[in-house]
Formats: sequence, structure tokens, C-alpha cells
Amino acid sequence: MSESAVMNQSTSEPQPIYLKDYQVPVYLIDEIDLHFDLFDDYTLVKSHLRLRHNRLSDSKSKTLVLNGVDLQLESIKLDGRLLSETDYQLSDQALVLQDMPDNFDLEVVTRIFPHKNTALSGLYRSAGTYCTQCEAEGFRRITYFQDKPDVLSRYTTTITAEESRFPILLSNGNPVESGKLENGRHWVKWEDPFNKPSYLFALVAGDFDLLEDKFVTMSGREITLRIYVEKGYGDQADHAMYSLKQAMRWDEKAYGREYDLDIYMIVAIGDFNMGAMENKGLNIFNTKYVLAKPETATDDDYIHILSVIGHEYFHNWSGNRVTCRDWFQLSLKEGLTIFRDQTFSEDMLSPAVMRIREVNGLREVQFPEDAGPLSHPVRPDSYIEINNFYTATVYNKGAEILRMMQTILGKTLFRKGMDLYFARHDGQAVTIEDYVKAMEDVSGIDLRQFRTWYTQAGTPVLKVEDDYDAENRVYRLTVTQQTLPTPDQPVKKALHIPIRMGLLDQQGRPLPLSLDNGQPVTDTVLHLTSTSQVFQFDNIPCAPIPSLLRNFSAPVKLELGYSDQDLQFLFKHDTDAFNRWEAGQKYALRLMLGLVRDHQHDKGLALPDEYPDMFGHVLRQEQEDKFLLAEMLMLPSEKYIGEQMEVIDVDVIHTVREYVLHEIAQRLQKVFLETYQHNHDVSGLYQFSMADIGRRQLKNRCLSYLMLLPGYEEIGLQQFEVSLKKNMTDAQAALVALANRNIPARTAALDSFYQTWKHDALVVDKWLAIQAASKLPDTLHVIRKLMRHEAFDLKNPNKVYALIGTFGQRNAVNFHSKNGEGYAFLREMVHQLDKLNPQVASRMVKPLTAWKRYDKERQELMREQLELLLHENKKLSRDLFEVVTKSLKEV
Ligand code: TRP
Ligand code: ZN
Repeated sequence: MSESAVMNQSTSEPQPIYLKDYQVPVYLIDEIDLHFDLFDDYTLVKSHLRLRHNRLSDSKSKTLVLNGVDLQLESIKLDGRLLSETDYQLSDQALVLQDMPDNFDLEVVTRIFPHKNTALSGLYRSAGTYCTQCEAEGFRRITYFQDKPDVLSRYTTTITAEESRFPILLSNGNPVESGKLENGRHWVKWEDPFNKPSYLFALVAGDFDLLEDKFVTMSGREITLRIYVEKGYGDQADHAMYSLKQAMRWDEKAYGREYDLDIYMIVAIGDFNMGAMENKGLNIFNTKYVLAKPETATDDDYIHILSVIGHEYFHNWSGNRVTCRDWFQLSLKEGLTIFRDQTFSEDMLSPAVMRIREVNGLREVQFPEDAGPLSHPVRPDSYIEINNFYTATVYNKGAEILRMMQTILGKTLFRKGMDLYFARHDGQAVTIEDYVKAMEDVSGIDLRQFRTWYTQAGTPVLKVEDDYDAENRVYRLTVTQQTLPTPDQPVKKALHIPIRMGLLDQQGRPLPLSLDNGQPVTDTVLHLTSTSQVFQFDNIPCAPIPSLLRNFSAPVKLELGYSDQDLQFLFKHDTDAFNRWEAGQKYALRLMLGLVRDHQHDKGLALPDEYPDMFGHVLRQEQEDKFLLAEMLMLPSEKYIGEQMEVIDVDVIHTVREYVLHEIAQRLQKVFLETYQHNHDVSGLYQFSMADIGRRQLKNRCLSYLMLLPGYEEIGLQQFEVSLKKNMTDAQAALVALANRNIPARTAALDSFYQTWKHDALVVDKWLAIQAASKLPDTLHVIRKLMRHEAFDLKNPNKVYALIGTFGQRNAVNFHSKNGEGYAFLREMVHQLDKLNPQVASRMVKPLTAWKRYDKERQELMREQLELLLHENKKLSRDLFEVVTKSLKEV
């Protein structure tokens, strides 16, 4: 390639990559032997590759293209012969070798600079430790390689470093050899017996506290489990270890999957772009999903650790043993693994509460994404930067598709399909199509129409009408589906949508829908496959109340003309816990949308007694488990209310929701106080048990209502002081309530929180996030000050997510302030971040991309900031370029 071609390539606009252009690799790399020499100001990487021409490739070409980014090439040898600069072409993206033989060896030496790596992709340093992040395309920042998931190789890795500062040297697989060198350096060699794609490679070097344990697999093999954490944090790894063992046992029970290596390692790292990474045998985790002890971690932190540890562990089969052919298939491993970790958490904790939280996440993140300018199918057709496709759609809608498949096949056949999938494709890089085929093959069920879920973007809307014919005792449901156009997909097809449902009589008793072996069936699945369909039920003795889409059996928006009374009834009587909660949400949503209209038309706000009465009813009955009760007492979020509106009116939504919260608090203060006192453990001691979590969640929900009223500050302050040093769940709940109130106790509490915990980075993140979420009007000013505080660091993703992410995503009133200062602030931050860490920049810019959803003035202000980003910086990252240009497109 000529120099001008290289120039041209780097100055022209980034171009998309298309699924339809996929080609099998021309060369395969069977073996890779890596040597890392770690020095303070550089690292030398020697890579020895054994390559062979791929018989499956129909290409006539004998050209080998190795990806490489930000590498300093030192030398290349082909079958032992040193190559000169005329023997290859080098660009800033690739190393190209022409006329290669069918079998050959390459030895490539590169020099890299981990201490300058702020993008946290490839090999980088975090607080002195060396670590890697290779998914999706980080391995090309370490050495020249065919950095794509369909190239599976056997890895050996030797690491050399100074022994005193880096006593622990880790890579994938098993340690096989080690030794000392005379200059204070030492080395360890690792061998991974399983073929893997480069994105699963990992290396760690540093000094850690270690928690070690054992696990005996179902076939009796003993596995060594090791969790490495920063020195001084060894007392915060027990819950992660507990979670790992639970996950290992669960995967054996639920899917018959056993762990395959003799050692399983997890390393916790403070600077990490995402949650965690499933590298073979050596998971690397954000500290946030490992470290926990009662005094620093909340119930939610404990729950998230359980599910993320589970997630990465489950990847060993769904992702590692069977991996993706290309990145368009990302949901093959992510959707499946999210589905597996969700069912794991449901089994371990509470099925109903976990399902409610999953659905809240879908509605607040995935539905808006699917309705906006960045909408894409679960299996996208094209991308500019693959890092932009680690989305709620690929992950969470992907998981919903698997849940629907399980509903359609039934649990037994679904499990058989999983078994076949693993058996058939073990050791391969495959496609979503291969997965669906396995499900069809075991079940004989035709999933042709169902596949559309993978290729069609957008959230379907279901409209339901019912009618009861008393004379013939026939009940009918007429269901229609519609999916609105999305960018690039103007015309939508009808999907196969499974609707789990039941019918209730006026007393709340389930009605028999049919007979199965003489037994009445009261819960069934309807299969909606056309645009409009009628479902008929015979022998229905009275006009029933339908309970539809139980347990949220499909990721759709359901519109049904329930009366307020129907919803109150279902809230109390539905036998499906999820739908009981859902009825409350529907009721509250309708109520608040009505109040929003009233307020917009200058009508006074008034709350009818029915709503607080519904709360009072469930509180006094104590029929629910407390964890679920705490969820039932929660109003739909501002975000979710806004999503229902033509034009999102952030100020009025906030005013109305605060008004309703306040009214509920006022009218139910007596029962809230009783419930609080009854469930509050004055000792403030913490235990991670379902009973304790339920109690804490419930009483802290009551506290959050009470703290809205004057005269209850004392309770919150008291809880804060008692729990500050021993129970973060309680301390944080009290502090969040205080942080939204302009009272003197607020500053004092925030200060003592910081003074108590300033040495613990994850607790400091909470302190930043609580302030960034505050609805008080001077919040942006406070955030700007915090940016200069010793506690903040723009290079650390967790700090950025806590302060800037929280402001953009969870503080609508302040972010959308009419004068546009919130937008300008976010643009400034994204601009700076893009130079340090494009992945983080491109995540942070998302709130601006929803500009179309707001009023004309705000639209203008938001777009202006997006335009500025595009034009003020000539060398925008591909990550940011893709998100900004796509979001500006639909004018
Ligand atoms: N595969 C990881 C997961 O379990 C995702 C991930 C971790 C990731 N780090 C990343 C993706 C960096 C892209 C870039 O979900
Ligand atoms: Zn994953």
C-alpha cells in the first residue's frame, strides 16, 4: 500500500462493515506462542505463529492480513528468515504479506506501551497492575494477528517481569513452568489446552491478595478457585467466591455443564470499561462486581455480583467452548448468557422480583433504544465500530428471544436443544442460525417465522380487545400486532409472539381454559403469528378478567382497555406475581399521565384515594414476600413515564411524580412508620439472606416515603449514623433520601460519608453518584466542583459512570435544564473523554442522541451539541463518529 493510500484511509470517514460480506479466513492459525517482557516504559511481545491455508476458503488469494493497531513493529521472520521492509506492507491497521505458502511459521516482535493506554483495550495498566481486555478487537493492540473470532488457536504464554513488584503472573489455562532470572526478574509459562479466539486471551501481572477455595464437579473433579484482589481487599472477596460456587453448581443442575480446566481464576481490576470479561480460565472483573462486605456494599451490589459472576462463568460454555463466527453473531453468546444468568438469579433469589427488575431494565433502556436513531436488530446487518453493539438490544432483547423460545418449546425440549447445540458445535465458531437450527431439530417445531425476532428491529405493540358472549359462554380475545418502522427498516413483518395468559373470575379465582388429562388448565400460551388473530375460549361461565403476557412472556408493549377497577382487582388477585405488580404499574402510569395533562393545562393536581388505598391494602395484608412488596410499592420511573409521551415533558413529569410520592407518603405515613419500625433492625447488622434482604428493601422503601415529609428527618439521620460504618444498604438508603432535600443535615451527612469511606474507591463512586442524581437545582454546579475533587478521575470509567453517567441518565430535570447547560456540560466531557477512552465517550454521549423526543427548543440545543462534537474535533473516534452521525441523520 502506498503512503498516500494509508493517508487517505485514515482521513476519510469510517466505513461500515456488512454481515453479507463475511468470508471464511484464508489462513488459519493453529498455534500461537507468546512471550511478554514487561518493563516500566514498554513491553516487548514476541509472537510465534503456526499458520496453514484454510481448505474451506474458496479464495484464490495467498495474501495474509494481520490486524494491528498502535503497535511498533520490531521484526518479522517467515520460516526463520528475517523479512525486510519490502517484503510486507504496513498500515496503521494491518500488516499484509503476499504470496504465502500453504504451511508456514511467522515470528513477529512488537513493542507496545501499556502505561500510555488510556482506552483500556489491549494491554494496559491499572493502579500498577498489568491487565488485558481483548474483546472485541483488543488483541490487535498487543500483536499482529487475525483478530476475529473464527480463528481458533492453541495458546501458550510466557510472561517475564520484575519479581518484587509483579510476583503474580497469570494467563489462560494451566501454569506449566516458571523460573527466576538473575536480574531480579522471573517468568511463568501458561498453556491453554482449549482452542480459543483471540478475544478470550488474557494476561495479568501484579501483586494481590488471594482468596482460594475448591469446587468438586459433578463427575468428581476437584477445581481450584482463585480470586485475586487489590492488596488490602482480601476481606471483600467472600461473596464473589460464594457466587462462583453457586454458579458452578447451578450450571451442572440446570444444563448439565461442567467446568473443564483444573483452575478457575478471577482478577478484580479498578479500571475497566465494562462489567467483566469471560477470558478462558482467567476472568477479569471490574472491582464493582467482585468486592463486597456489609459495610461497603448494598443488597443491590450483592445481587449484581451474584449475577455477573454467574454470567462470566456461564460464558465458559455459551461463548468459549462454542463461540461466535463473527461479531454480528454477538447475541449468540451474550443473549444466551444473559438469559442463563437471569434464570440463575431468579432461582437463587426471587423469580418475581428478578423478573420485575429485568422488565424495568428493558423498558427503560432497550425499548427507547429500539425506538430511537440507534435502533438495530438483535443480529445487526452492519456496524462501523463493534464496541457500539454491546447494547441492551443485543444483550437483553437477545435474552428475551431465548426466553420466548423456551416458552414455545417448553422446558424439556428447550434443554434438549441446548444439549444438542453444545454437543454439535463444541469447539466451533458458529452463528445464531446454527443455534436456532438445533432448537428446531430437537423439537420438530418450525421456527422460520420466529427467526424474524433476530433480524427485525423495533418493539411490537399488541392491541387487545375482548368480548364475552354470555348466552354461548364464549369468551374471545382479538389481538393485533404492529411494529413501527425503524431506521433502515421501513416495512415490518408479523412476528411469532408467545402470550402466556389466564382468566380470572370476579372473585379472583382462576378459570379452567381447557382440560389436560382431566385436569383443568388455568394458565396457557397463545401463539400470535398474524397481524390480527382471534382466540376463543369455550365454557366460560362468567365475564372473566384476563391476565395477559404473564411473567412478561414477550418483549412487547401491551395495550388493553382495562378499567381502573380491573387493574385494582388484578393488583390484588392475579395468581401471577409479575402481573400483580404490572397491574399496579399500569394503574399508576395512567394516573400520572392524566395528572401530567392536568398540570400542562394549569389544572390543580389531585390524587384519588384509590391509589394509596391499593398500597395500604398490600401493606396491611403482608401477603407478599417483603422483597416483592418493596417492588410493588414503587412508582414507574420518570424515564418510563416519559417514554409514553409524544413529547417528553421532564419538568412536569418530575413535578407530578414528586407530588404523587408526597401524597402517598402523607396519607400512608402511619402504616409506613409501623412497617418501617417493624422491619428495621436497630443493630444495623447485615446478612445476605432472602429474609433480611426483603426486610431491608421494604423498610427502606417506607423510609424513602417518610423522608419526603417534614418531621421524619430524625429517623433517616438515625439510620444513617447507626449504619454508616457497618451496613451500606441502610446508610445509602438514608443518604439518598437526604441528598434530595435542602436541609442542613444533608451536607453534614455527605461529608461524614466521604470522610468515613474516602479510602474505598467503590464507596466513593456511590458518594459521587448520589450527588449527581440529586434533584436540587444547583446539582450541575456541584458536579463541576466534584470534577476537580481529589475523588474524581476522568481516566477511571467507574468514576465517569458515577458522576457523568448518572447525571446524563438519571437526572432528567437537571440534565434537560432549559438553558442547555446540562447538554453543553455533557458535550465538553464527551469531547475530552473521546481522546482518552472512545468506548466510554460513546457510552456517555447516548442521552444527547434522544433529542427527537423533546420539545423544539431542547431539540435545537441538544442537536447543537452533537454538531459541535462532530465538527470541533477533526479526529473523532470511530466509536463516537458512528453514534453521533447516526443520531443526527433522521432530521
Ligand atoms: N463479554 C463481556 C461480557 O461478559 C463484555 C465485555 C467486557 C466487553 N469488556 C468489554 C465488550 C470491552 C466490549 C469491550 O458481557
Ligand atoms: Zn457476556
